[in-house]
Amino acid sequence: MMFSDRDLLPAALAAGEGPTIVCAQLGNVNTGSCDDVTAVADAVEGAGAWLHVDGAFGLWAAASPRFRHLVAGAERADSWATDAHKWLNVPYDSGVAFVRDGEALRAAMAVTAEYLPTDSTHRNPSDYTPELSRRARGVEVWAALHALGREGVDEMVTRHCRQARRFAERLSAAGFEILNEVVLNQVLVAFGDAEQTANVIAAIQAEGTCWAGITVWQKRTAMRISVITWATTDEDVERSADAMIRVARSVLR
Ligand SMILES: Cc1ncc(COP(=O)(O)O)c(C=O)c1O
Repeated sequence: MMFSDRDLLPAALAAGEGPTIVCAQLGNVNTGSCDDVTAVADAVEGAGAWLHVDGAFGLWAAASPRFRHLVAGAERADSWATDAHKWLNVPYDSGVAFVRDGEALRAAMAVTAEYLPTDSTHRNPSDYTPELSRRARGVEVWAALHALGREGVDEMVTRHCRQARRFAERLSAAGFEILNEVVLNQVLVAFGDAEQTANVIAAIQAEGTCWAGITVWQKRTAMRISVITWATTDEDVERSADAMIRVARSVLR
């Protein structure tokens, strides 16, 4: 059963049978919106359920004093998942899981075989991941965190959220409809109906100043602007907004 409305959660938990995992999300892929994890944790507490937080990109808001309130309550979860290849900008497949009960993680992931001795005094990394073989992704994550430091990650997250709001301001001032409340780094903009919006997005992609993809959110076709690259400057945002507006006006003329 999927429950999207957290008011339904206590009833759903009471009705559930067997082991239950409740998954809250920090950073909706379309809108950037975040579940109220404190409210979800209150509902889950005492119900014997496992609270997981999907913070693929939204968990990084914790690095920014300005946006940290969006992730409040995450510290009460049993586990988090986040992607260092999203907001930290390291190469793909640097997914990270944080699990409060390390033994539960080991019990779920460890694979034993005669050729894989397990009686080491050292921590055996493959006991904690789905793979036996993998490259040293942690090196890149460590290097990025070391180079940026707490302040560098904060600067990047805070800048991208400000830049997302700037995109929304520019596009809205030009007469285009912003569909979401811009809480993080995601902006959804419609250029009219589904066909008009799809045509404008294709033309923006072809023009090449910047790239943003198409999505459908709450039955509306929209362009999804996701500001997440470390290299994006305020000037890039202005140039990109200029190009979007210019192209949209010419397509819709
Ligand atoms: C909120 C959220 N959860 C999960 C995922 C999936 O992440 P991955 O592709 O690393 O499995 C994404 C990817 O966009 C996401 O934004």
